[in-house]
Amino acid sequence: MPAPVTRRTDDFLIRRAVAGDRCKLSAMLDGLSELSLYFRFQTAVGHPPRAAVIEPLLSSSGQSWVAERNDHLVAHAMWAWVYGATGTPTAELAAIVADPYQGRGLGTRMLDLAGAHAHAAGARQLLLVVSAANDRTLRLIRRRWPTAPADRDGPLINFTIPTT
Ligand SMILES: CC(C)(COP(=O)(O)OP(=O)(O)OC[C@H]1O[C@@H](n2cnc3c(N)ncnc32)[C@H](O)[C@@H]1OP(=O)(O)O)[C@@H](O)C(=O)NCCC(=O)NCCS
Repeated sequence: MPAPVTRRTDDFLIRRAVAGDRCKLSAMLDGLSELSLYFRFQTAVGHPPRAAVIEPLLSSSGQSWVAERNDHLVAHAMWAWVYGATGTPTAELAAIVADPYQGRGLGTRMLDLAGAHAHAAGARQLLLVVSAANDRTLRLIRRRWPTAPADRDGPLINFTIPTT
């Protein structure tokens, strides 16, 4: 019988992102698959990534975190305020995990962290905007927030999740 696959998150240091992470973040994104980059940004990122992609990851209206391993970044997660038509304070969540580190619980853990922080900052609704072809994220959302209402918006699906 094959040995069970061990998946650990304990090897990673999760901490707040700081302006000094710019180079490490750029290097992380530069090494990601085009599919992961597309699912996260839904636009051309560039190699090296364009400043217009990197800067909002480090200076959002909310908060950002990175996961670090052996002095390299392996994941980024964030929330930012959404200034929409509804009166409900809403925070958009997003995350990206480097391909070799996906499927170890890091994405779920960092999205939970971002969601809890957004709630503590006053958000009463979380928004996740996901490509309809992004099976892994769709499974993650359905597992973590099984009753989250979903609205189709062309190739995207918007999930709105009450935080109370
Ligand atoms: C979406 C994304 C952030 C999820 O991060 P992740 O770290 O891979 O997510 P998790 O590890 O928490 O969960 C993914 C899978 O690992 C499994 N898993 C997690 N921890 C596990 C553990 N300890 N043991 C076994 N399996 C585990 C989960 O069950 C899940 O399985 P599934 O894909 O079959 O449903 C990541 O895949 C990614 O960066 N994708 C590209 C960018 C993107 O799509 N971003 C989201 C849009 S904002």
